[in-house]
Amino acid sequence: MSGRIINMTEETFTPHNIIVTGGCGFIGSNFVHYVVDYHPDVHVTVLDKLTYAGNPENIAGLPEDRVELVVGDICDADLLDKIVPGHDAIVHYAAESHNDNSIADPEPFLRTNVEGTFRLLEAVRKYGIRYHHVSTDEVYGDLALDDPAKFTEHTPYHPSSPYSSTKAASDMLVRAWTRTYGIRATISNCSNNYGPYQHVEKFIPRQITNILDGQRPKLYGKGENVRDWIHTEDHSSGVWTILTKGRIGETYLIGANGEKNNITVLRMILKMMGQPEDAFDWVKDRPGHDRRYAIDSTKLRTELGWTPRHTDFESGLKQTIEWYTQNRAWWEPAKAATEARYKQQGQ
Ligand code: NAD
Ligand code: DAU
Repeated sequence: MSGRIINMTEETFTPHNIIVTGGCGFIGSNFVHYVVDYHPDVHVTVLDKLTYAGNPENIAGLPEDRVELVVGDICDADLLDKIVPGHDAIVHYAAESHNDNSIADPEPFLRTNVEGTFRLLEAVRKYGIRYHHVSTDEVYGDLALDDPAKFTEHTPYHPSSPYSSTKAASDMLVRAWTRTYGIRATISNCSNNYGPYQHVEKFIPRQITNILDGQRPKLYGKGENVRDWIHTEDHSSGVWTILTKGRIGETYLIGANGEKNNITVLRMILKMMGQPEDAFDWVKDRPGHDRRYAIDSTKLRTELGWTPRHTDFESGLKQTIEWYTQNRAWWEPAKAATEARYKQQGQ
């Protein structure tokens, strides 16, 4: 750390009218809820293509004078010319986000994650507005299971999957546009999120909804892979903190010290849902499966004063199980097609 004095209490940027791309997906919609709940002076325009992963129900019921949905593609430069002027920031969540899908068909990942980010950066450059880029810890590749190290802002990029390589490429574009064109951008790289509105293709919702559906959960490989879990509301507060207080051109890692291996998480779910601890199937491993992710979020905590609220994973997981139990109508329409796709892949 440098010896420079940083003001941790004053907001340096006060947004009033922001665009949230991907605001009908899992993390984007949780961020929209967060802004509506905690920042009453801010209007949100959600720009979302409504792919299989986007669901307008995720933001249904929010006040119409606070949130507007524009259905469209971030790759559409003409659309960006229409909607970007008049906004003071873009918070960019939209992406193809699932590793297994990127292995089966990488092309949409190149288009949305790389070209889409390029189009947004060009719009930001043209209209001179603030930009926050939401990225992932997967850009750093993986750590050995017995390595005491964690990822920091200085860890070299080493992505493993088509998904993470496109996210890494998008981060590089942001850095280049910041340095070359002087756009006002920040980047965050967060670890694995959990919470409400997560698509049933992802690990935790897949296992919960399998049990609710009378099917057995599916575990890849030996179940030893470690993920660093953070509640999605803590991700939202981290992004808000960086958007409003972060230093332009900087990258901040967001994480809540939530490392657990997959078999431990699965056994917690089985126990909480009244199932025997061996009531699951071992299935084919993911090709190139990253072993372990772990975030050191010291910079965000010390420089900007951020701290996560949901540090009890067991209680957050219980609430998440409760949410999927009470919201069958939300996940049921996507469940059969998702499981059919996994079956085809031997997973
Ligand atoms: P998601 O797949 O649930 O949602 C993605 C959203 O983007 C959907 O609403 C989809 O309709 C929209 N979208 C996709 N392509 C689009 C396009 N071309 N134009 C406009 N909208 C489009 O994803 P998520 O899990 O909520 O992830 C959101 C962001 O957070 C991604 O950038 C992801 O890389 C990042 N991230 C995710 C995690 C995680 O644990 N899920 C962790 C760290 C970072
Ligand atoms: O680290 C951040 C990343 O977390 C985000 O960038 C990605 O968008 C997000 O999808 C997530 O990536 P993962 O690949 O870690 O998440 P996923 O939910 O797909 O898998 C979590 C772990 O569980 C991983 O080790 C694979 C394993 N798994 C997954 C599924 C779907 C299983 O064992 N069984 C399963 O059925």
